[in-house]
Parts: sequence; structure tokens; C-alpha cells
Amino acid sequence: MIETLYWKDNKLYLLDQTILPHEIEYCECKTYQEVITAIKTMKVRGAPAIGVSAAYAMALAEVQGENLEQAGQEIKQARPTAINLFWAVDKVLKSVEQGNTAVDTAIQMEKEDISINKKIGEYGNTVIDDGDTILTHCNAGALACAGYGTALGVIRAANEHDKNINVICDETRPVLQGARLSVFEMQEENIPVRLIVDGAAGHMMQKGEVDKVVIGADRVAKGGVANKIGSLMVALAAKRYNIPFYVAAPISTFDFENNIFDTKIEERNPEEVLVVNGKYIAREETRVENPAFDIVESNLITGIITEEGIKKPL
Ligand code: MRU
Repeated sequence: MIETLYWKDNKLYLLDQTILPHEIEYCECKTYQEVITAIKTMKVRGAPAIGVSAAYAMALAEVQGENLEQAGQEIKQARPTAINLFWAVDKVLKSVEQGNTAVDTAIQMEKEDISINKKIGEYGNTVIDDGDTILTHCNAGALACAGYGTALGVIRAANEHDKNINVICDETRPVLQGARLSVFEMQEENIPVRLIVDGAAGHMMQKGEVDKVVIGADRVAKGGVANKIGSLMVALAAKRYNIPFYVAAPISTFDFENNIFDTKIEERNPEEVLVVNGKYIAREETRVENPAFDIVESNLITGIITEEGIKKPL
């Protein structure tokens, strides 16, 4: 399995996810500022991967001899929605206060992320039946984490338990994480996968082609879950056709303090929507809305698959 990120000789190497699946290239980060840029430009993306990268950004700040509180404040500005970013910075600060180094803490957090995802996979496997077709949105796979994945981790685990699984990936406009990343991951595992445009999800459900939906999350809080834009439409269609809708996420993605509707929804560059293959698909001056996430309300969610078991939505 291709590595999302690795730490070597006091440098962080991030697989550049903007050029996958055609090119496999790692970008070398020697400073925490370079990690911030990689998060902002989505070279690394996905809530747990953002969290682990943020922890390594703190490790780099330590190596650079920077003030960790100050660096942490800057790292927290990289992207607003995934709570793992804030959780990771605070976890490193606390660990350093307790006498550990930021480098050792980040290395530990990377390892933990993978073992947590494997537990999520095992719990998730219990709700997957042999022969299921599972629809997923965006990429909540190994590439969105330090490894293994959350939603795709559930699929991976079911496959490891010799269940015959078919996967349908929404392409996930505007930056196509479903097409470029989730399809790639499933092909690498030899798991049968079909790619659909986002607008086809309801149609596939209506035709009886989907047994379960499993997606990831950027934040779980009272009232629902924030995840990639388009998740809400998938959840509404799943409810209409009585299809179980699961969210797979580690406890580090839970925000126990706030209501989900208080989550800051990232608004990204209009060019992501307007430019396809280097060409404008509408007039350059077209007004664009480009929210990167939406909120799936709790009553649309069957269960949240965590490393501690399957939980009810908050
Ligand atoms: O904008 P992205 O690619 O960072 O959005 C990613 C998602 O929405 C994922 O579903 C979520 O972070 C969970 S990843 C395990």
C-alpha cells in the first residue's frame, strides 16, 4: 500500500494528492510553514491525514527551534472544518508540556491513527454483508489518513474477511477525490469498483444497486456530521430508499462541545468549480459558490463506526 506520508531525517514527506492517480510524487517539507501550504493546497487532505500532518508540522517547528504555541496558532489556520487539525496541535502541545518531544509525539500519533483505523474496520465489517454493494463519497481511505482508511478501511476489512464487496464511488466534484483517489485505492486492492458522477447516486439507489452507504467525517458533533460537499444529498437519497447510511470516523473527529451547525464550512477557490482541464466551463466572471463541506443531520445517519464500536449520532 502506497504511503500517504512518512517522516525521515527530521523531514516530512507528503504524497502529493493533487496529481494522483497519474503521478506518484512526494513533496519534502523541511519547515512547518511548508506543511501549512501543503494542507492549504490539498497536497495532503482528509481529516485524519490533516491531523497527523499538523502533528508533524509541530515536530518541524520544534526542530526549527520555533515557539510551539505560536506555530500551533498558525497551523490551526490552515483549514477550518476538520477538527482533527485542532485536536492534533493541542495534543502535541499537551504532550510537550508533559516532557515528551513533539517529534516523538507525532511519530506515535501516526502509528495510533493506523491502529485506530484497523479497529474501525473490524467494527465496520460487522454491518457489511457478503455481496454488498457499498456507495462512498469523497475519499475516506488510506490516503485521507496515515494509512488503512476509515470508510474505505471498513471496505478493506470486509474484503480481508473474504466478503465479496462491490464499491460505487461518487466522483466528488469539484476536486474529484472519489474519482482520483478512492477509485485508485480500490483498484490497488483489486476490489471491484465503479465510478459515477455525483448526480447519479440517487438513480443508482432507486434502481436497487446500493446496499449500504459508508462515508467519512471531518467533524461529528451534536446534531450531525460535517463531510465533503454532496454528502447531504447522498444521505437524503439513502433515507428515501431505506439504505443504511454509516459514517466511519475516529473519536478524534468528535467535537463534544459544539453544535454541528456552528462548524465553519470552508469556502474554497471558485477556480476549482469554474476551471476543468485548464478551461473555463462558464464565463470567467461567473459568480461561484464553492462550499467544501455540508452537514448530514443525525436523523439521516444509521450509525457512526468508531474504534470504540458503533455509536448513535450525537
Ligand atoms: O477536502 P478534503 O479532501 O480534505 O475532504 C475530505 C473528506 O471530506 C473526508 O470524507 C473526511 O475528511 C474523512 S477522511 C477519513
